[in-house]
Amino acid sequence: MSEEIRLKIERLREEIKYHDVRYYGLNDPVISDAQYDRLMRELKELEGAYPQYVTPDSPSQRVGHGLAEDWTKVLVAEEFQSVPHSLPMLSLENAMEAEEVYDFDRRVKKLLETTREIDYVLEPKMDGLAVEFIYQDGVFIQGSTRGDGFTGEDVTANLKVMKALPMVLTEPPGERLPRRLEARGEVFMGIREFDELNHTRADRGEQIFANPRNVAAGSLRQLDSRVTAQRNLDIVFYAIGKVEGRELASQWELLSSFRKWGLKVNELVELGHGAEQVLDYYERVKKLRHKLNYEIDGIVIKVNYFSDQQQLGALSRSPRYALAYKFEPRQETTKVLDIKVKVGRTGAVTPVAILEPVNIGGVMVKRASLYNQDEIDRLDVQIGDSVVVQRAGDVIPEVVKVITDTRTGAERKFVMPDSCPECGAPVFRARGEVAFRCTGLSCPGQLKERVKHFASKLAMDIDGLGESLVDVLVSKKLVKSLDDLYYLTKEQLLTLERMADKSAQNIMDALNKSKEVSLERFIYALGIRHVGEHLSKVLAKELGQLEEITQADYERLVAIREVGDEVARSIVTFFGQEETKRVLDRLFQAGVEIARAKHRARGKLFGKSFLFTGALSSMTRDEAKRRLAEAGGRLASSVTKTLDFLVAGKDPGSKLVKAKELRIKTITEEEFLEMVKGG
Ligand code: IVH
Repeated sequence: MSEEIRLKIERLREEIKYHDVRYYGLNDPVISDAQYDRLMRELKELEGAYPQYVTPDSPSQRVGHGLAEDWTKVLVAEEFQSVPHSLPMLSLENAMEAEEVYDFDRRVKKLLETTREIDYVLEPKMDGLAVEFIYQDGVFIQGSTRGDGFTGEDVTANLKVMKALPMVLTEPPGERLPRRLEARGEVFMGIREFDELNHTRADRGEQIFANPRNVAAGSLRQLDSRVTAQRNLDIVFYAIGKVEGRELASQWELLSSFRKWGLKVNELVELGHGAEQVLDYYERVKKLRHKLNYEIDGIVIKVNYFSDQQQLGALSRSPRYALAYKFEPRQETTKVLDIKVKVGRTGAVTPVAILEPVNIGGVMVKRASLYNQDEIDRLDVQIGDSVVVQRAGDVIPEVVKVITDTRTGAERKFVMPDSCPECGAPVFRARGEVAFRCTGLSCPGQLKERVKHFASKLAMDIDGLGESLVDVLVSKKLVKSLDDLYYLTKEQLLTLERMADKSAQNIMDALNKSKEVSLERFIYALGIRHVGEHLSKVLAKELGQLEEITQADYERLVAIREVGDEVARSIVTFFGQEETKRVLDRLFQAGVEIARAKHRARGKLFGKSFLFTGALSSMTRDEAKRRLAEAGGRLASSVTKTLDFLVAGKDPGSKLVKAKELRIKTITEEEFLEMVKGG
C-alpha cells in the first residue's frame, strides 16, 4: 500500500514538473490553470498525509513560481564555448554572370592540365547557416557554427533538440561508418514554417522576423534550447571536414554516403559534365526557385573528384575547386504608393503596402505585407516612403526597412479605417489583441479568403480555382459558404464572363477530383483559427478520424502534446457552431470523402526489425527499405541479439555469419517480399 502511495506521489511530481516546463519554460501550457491547481492540491494532500515521502525537490516545496532547478539545467544551454575547426570552413567565390562560370571552368582545366570536360557536382546554394556536425563512431558528439571559418561556437545543445538532426548514423549493410566524421551542412528554416511562425508572432504582438535565415541564426545561438526546440528547423549536408576511418573519392560519393548514413542531402543535387551542363542546371534551378519551400540564393559548382580538388587547392579564404553562381538578389528598393487594408479569413484586417511595381528576382512585385499596426509603427512606414522590399519564395513580399534619408516631408501616416472596406461593418481591436478585426458576420471579404484557403494547394487542392475566380463567385453570390463550391454547376460557371466551355469543365473536374481528401488536409482546409498545416497533421495523427476531432472536448484536445489552451478552445468553439455542422453535412452530402489514413506504425510488421545483406535482385536497397517502412517494420543498423530477420541477397557478407552465430532467422528476398506484401 505505502509503495503504491509513494509511486502515486512520484508520478504526480513528474506530471507537475512537466506542466511547469510547458507553462514557464515553453510558454505553451497544455492544461488549464484549474487542472494544474487540482494536481498540486492532490500532491499536497498526499504529502500532508504521508510526510515521510516529502522530498526537497518536490514542486510542493517550491517558494513562489518558476521552474525547478533540475529542469532548467536540462533545457538551457551553457554559454557558448569556442570550437576550433580541424579544417577551416572556407567560403565560396561568387560569380554573377555566365562568363565567370566559363572562366572558372577554363581555370580548372588549366590547373588540372586537361582538355577533357570536368565532372562537377551541382548543388543549390542554401541560404541558411553553415554548421559543422561531429559524429564519433556514428554518434553525434558536437556541433559548431562556422564563426570566422577557423573557430566557431559550440551549439551542440541547440542542435540536439532539432528533430532534423540524427543523433546516431545508420550503418549501411555491409559497410562501416567512419570512426570520426566532421559533416558540414546548412541549418535553415522552411518558408511555410517561417510564415507560420511570423503570423503567430504577429498575432501575439511579438516582433516579426525579417527572413528565414535570421530565424535559423537566432535559433542556433539561443541560450535557451527550449526556444530552438520549437522552431521547425531543417538541415542539409554538403561537405566534410576531417574524416577518419573511411575513404571517399568524390563529392558525389560523399553525398550518396550522407544519404546512406541518414543525413539529408538536398534533393536537387546533380552530377554535371562541362560548363554547358552547369549553365543548364543554373537555369533549371532558377525556374524552380520560387516553388521551393526553402530559400536559395544561387547554385554551388564543385569539382567532383577529391584528388582533383586537392590538386586545385585553395586561396586564403576560398577553394579553387568550387564556385557559387548567384541568382539576382531578392531585395529591391521601391516606393509605397498607398497603404490599404485587406480582410483575412478570420476577419483580421491587415495593412498592405501598395508598391510602385518592381522586379524582384524575376517576379513583378506590386504589394507587400505589413502584418499589423505595431509592425507599421516599428518600421515607421508612411505612404510615399522609399522602402526595401523582400521576397521569400511564394510568400507575399514584405517591407524590411524604410529609407528615411530621402523623405521629403510629403509622406503621410497610415490610419486604420474604422469600418471594413469589404462589408462596412465596424472594425475594432479586441483587448489584448494586436489585430484589428472586422465584425461583419457575413463579410464577403472574409468568405473570399476562406474559400481561397479551402481550395489552396495544401488544403483541398482545387486546381484552377484561383484568386480572381473566387472573387467573382463570391461577389455574384454563387458561393455563400464553403460547401456551395461542390454544388456549382457547369451552367452557372458558363454564365461568368470570359468563361469558356473547356475551362468550366476543367473546374468541374478539379472539384470532383478534390473530393477525396486526407484527414489532415481536410482539417487544414476548414481554416480553424490557430490550426495551421502542422497542427492539422498532429490532430489527424493523434485522433485518426474526423468524428474524433469534431467531438473531442477541451480536456481531450489539451492532452495532446502539441495542443495548447488557445488551440483547444478554438477547435471546440469551431466544431460547436451550428454553421460548422451545416457546412460539414453539406460537404459530405456532395460527396466529399476523407480517405482512410494508412496506419504505418501499426503495419503488419510493426515491432519487427530487419537488416539486409548482399545484393538484392528484384529491387534496390532503397526500395526494400521503403517497403519495409510501409509494412511498419524497422531497419536495424547491425546484427545483434535483438534482430528479428536478416534478409540475405546474393553474395551475403559477414553479417550472415554473425546472424548464424546468434541464431537469427535468415530469410530470402522472396520471403521478404511475401512478408511486406499488402503493406
Ligand atoms: S560548400 C568551400 N555547399 O555558402 C566549401 N556551401 O560561401 C564551402 N552554402 O558558408 C561549403 N549552400 O553556408 C557549400 N551546397 C553548398 C552550400 C554552401 C550554401 C554556404 C555555406 C558556406 C557559404 C560559403
